[in-house]
Amino acid sequence: MRTFVLIKPDGVRRGLAGEIVSRFERYGIRLVGLRIISMGRDRAEKLYAVHKGKPFYNDLMEYITSGPVAVMALEINLPAEDAIKMVRKVVGATNPLNAEMGSIRGDYGLIVSENIVHASDSKESADYEIPIFFNESDMVKY
Ligand code: RTP
Ligand code: MG
Repeated sequence: MRTFVLIKPDGVRRGLAGEIVSRFERYGIRLVGLRIISMGRDRAEKLYAVHKGKPFYNDLMEYITSGPVAVMALEINLPAEDAIKMVRKVVGATNPLNAEMGSIRGDYGLIVSENIVHASDSKESADYEIPIFFNESDMVKY
């Protein structure tokens, strides 16, 4: 299945983009789309529409649009549910304090509001999130 991962502004700013991409590659997860972009407010609102109205929403909008991000489409040879589980495991728990060592957030994160990466949390989210950033023709098959 195909899923979506985004390296948040702190990840790019800290020079962790290459390291993060390689964390996925080592499992045989294939990168089918990759770009560095400045995300405008419109795309940020679309991506995090489910969080609108939550106490952290405004800070999240401010932060996610504060600098360049890297967007990735990943192809994983697993059934959707397992693929999502695998990616979330590589990424680690939302709050870096709870994320296991060896996960991206566990190894590089400090606080929940700057937790380095975003990953789709279901097949439905992946199908919603990928087209916000990629046209079908932006992604390769191999
Ligand atoms: P993401 O969507 O970014 O992959 O993170 P997630 O699924 O692990 O967590 P989610 O519940 O979807 O929250 C989205 C992002 O909002 C920020 N957040 N801040 N201050 C807070 O209590 C708080 N809670 C969530 C985090 O940056 C989280 O990744
Ligand atoms: Mg989420």
